[in-house]
Amino acid sequence: EHASTPTGHQTVPEHERRPLRSARWFGPADLRSFGHRSRAMQMGYAPQDWEGRPVIAILNTWSDINPCHMHFRQRVEDVKHGILAAGGFPMELPAISLSENFMKPTTMLYRNMLAMEAEELLRAYPADGAVLMGGCDKTTPGLLLGATSMDLPAIYVPAGPMLRGNWQGRTLGSGSDSWKYWDELRAGTITQADWQGVEAGIARSAGTCMTMGTASTMTAIAEAIGLSLPGASSIPAVDSSHIRMARSAGRRIVDMVWEDLRPSKIQTPAAFANAIAVAMAMGCSTNAIIHVIAMARRAGVAIGLDDFDRASREIPVIANVRPTGTTYLMEDFYYAGGITALMKRISRFLDLTCLTVTGRSVGENIEQAKVWNDDVIRPLDQPMFSGQAGGALTVLRGNLAPDGCVMKPACCDPKFHRHSGPALVFDDYPTMKKALDDETLDVTPDHVLVLRNAGPLGGPGMPEWGMLPLPRRLVREGCRDMLRISDARMSGTSYGACVLHVAPESYVGGPLALLRTGDIITVDVPARTISMAVSDQELERRRASWTPPPARYGRGYGWMAGQHMRQANEGCDFDFLQTDFGPPVPEPVI
Ligand code: FES
Ligand code: MG
Repeated sequence: EHASTPTGHQTVPEHERRPLRSARWFGPADLRSFGHRSRAMQMGYAPQDWEGRPVIAILNTWSDINPCHMHFRQRVEDVKHGILAAGGFPMELPAISLSENFMKPTTMLYRNMLAMEAEELLRAYPADGAVLMGGCDKTTPGLLLGATSMDLPAIYVPAGPMLRGNWQGRTLGSGSDSWKYWDELRAGTITQADWQGVEAGIARSAGTCMTMGTASTMTAIAEAIGLSLPGASSIPAVDSSHIRMARSAGRRIVDMVWEDLRPSKIQTPAAFANAIAVAMAMGCSTNAIIHVIAMARRAGVAIGLDDFDRASREIPVIANVRPTGTTYLMEDFYYAGGITALMKRISRFLDLTCLTVTGRSVGENIEQAKVWNDDVIRPLDQPMFSGQAGGALTVLRGNLAPDGCVMKPACCDPKFHRHSGPALVFDDYPTMKKALDDETLDVTPDHVLVLRNAGPLGGPGMPEWGMLPLPRRLVREGCRDMLRISDARMSGTSYGACVLHVAPESYVGGPLALLRTGDIITVDVPARTISMAVSDQELERRRASWTPPPARYGRGYGWMAGQHMRQANEGCDFDFLQTDFGPPVPEPVI
């Protein structure tokens, strides 16, 4: 059993239990508590439902528009089942769903909104502990950022990947095969009917993207930090062991409350180092960098781009899961032993003493883990990708990106690890799309496509546009990869020679704003550099004539985000949400 843990054992005897936070709402013999009790009774509860029982807030990011979480409507009942069985009082509190596919301009704009919502739900209501139900890309960091700031005992229940896609007996991978077959359709090698077959077969069950996209990356990271039950993040959403994992998590959170096992006890610098190591071995999404930096900083752990680059030089990619891997998907990864097996295999890069939600160490959690398929989870000496060439992720710096940018050298044509070519610069997505579809566009495979004004503030919200489409004519002529540069992000399911997260972004006047079509750009992955062949004097001249683009929003949430979102290399958190912004927020007056 992947998620087996000592749960519901009442690990702290009754006479040693501390008073519950929720008792401030339900306990006192005063008028306000009368109100709380009578309103609980209005919902059908009786005093024995709350007296001496931890109230467990279940932050459920289910919604009618999130296919990745569609099983959460039922799964939350399994979580409640576990909580009740262990003597807790479950309270489901829906939180904003952040559905990656449907939300515009990008879920990234709203990650911090979920973080704020999670934190404030836990603060404002009588919660003693929390079960966090998420999985679709930004929901994981959003929930964890909020739970970290509130610091009540919390356990993460990942949605789990969907089943492998299927079309005409061929396996399809989320995202990755959309891009692939879209290029084939544009090149005329598949028909419109084929394309519709792909459309119907690529997502055929509940669950998150089953490639090593941002969802699989971030849930694995949550588990590697120690915030999920062992093995939880690899279980397919529709597998019965996912139900058992949800029930176990419900049982376990009750004891975590009695043990006062909070995120602050779990989220140490070593726990984040473990998370980065696991992310590298999995061939993670580039989005991991932004989210882990934000999460670590909330936990008071200083992590930056260089920590990722260092880890990627050291730790080989051993998960053969697309898009970095060549063949398999998350379902195969689960059958091969899942994340505990991967962690066992890279255990010499991990701090095995780190405490986890089980109340036990990482080492104890993975002790029994085994790899069942060496082609899916490779031995360390037969990795998918490793070494100085770049590992999973590479951080580049230079006069085009003084604060860094990110590339995934493992999933691009190796000839782009060292490349020089003239820039072809676009200021906005629609103009770029139109130009690249124009068969008469003057462009060669050596050109470097550049999109700017797509960063955290300029995007706004840093949309996943970084896998810039290839020029239609070149695709027809057989071209399948080009060097591309932007201050955007890209989907974890994307691939290609895409340089992302250029910081500072062009919208705030980063050097990317000064680049012109025809300037020669050079990328050197082994040397970790990116530069434009433009002199400092010339850049100064160009800066003098640069005018900032107009504000994206004049009011509302977008305006607030525009005032407070940090740059990509700092994790895109809001400045006022960062832990060191001001004194701790007091408990509410009841
Ligand atoms: Fe939800 Fe990919 S769209 S995880
Ligand atoms: Mg994604």
